[in-house]
Amino acid sequence: MNIFLIGFMGSGKTTIGRKLSAQLQFRFVDLDGLIEEEMNMSVSELFSKMGEPFFRNKEKEMILDIIKNENQVISVGGGAPCFFNNLEIMNDNGITIYLKMTSGALLQRLLQLPAAARANRPLLVNKSREELFDYISSTLEKREEFYNKAKIVVSNEVFDTSLTVGRILTAINHLKK
Ligand code: S3P
Repeated sequence: MNIFLIGFMGSGKTTIGRKLSAQLQFRFVDLDGLIEEEMNMSVSELFSKMGEPFFRNKEKEMILDIIKNENQVISVGGGAPCFFNNLEIMNDNGITIYLKMTSGALLQRLLQLPAAARANRPLLVNKSREELFDYISSTLEKREEFYNKAKIVVSNEVFDTSLTVGRILTAINHLKK
């Protein structure tokens, strides 16, 4: 079984993913991390030096590669489910989980990120608070069309990691029945 965590930047895919993988005794995989390792470049360098389309192609390649393995919790970059047929591939090869948060909660989370973590998210840099909120709201609206096709939708609004992991485990057990 593979579990894909999808959702907007800042929705907690990595935090939840690590905890979930520990509970299931699965390997935790960070898709962006794999791309950075393979290319020996940070995500922001990849965007600036190679361009976004190159990054999006790499994401797809990495998804096709990762599904060859089993028993993994995979944290997927926020844009990946919305390009090509990536979401379909993930739905066909595992359990997709959308970590859902409102634009307001995402804004708060992203503003609290350490500067380095924000700097490595090229789509967020050089934006004022207002611009960031507008970007999150408009992008989330478009992306939810994809995110909502996940097999499981779980709210992470209050950002209580234990609560969210518990909800995910319950939902997975229901799916299996
Ligand atoms: C992106 C999300 C990032 C990373 C890249 C683009 C996006 O991943 O893949 O900066 O388009 O939403 P996280 O969702 O893990 O921050």
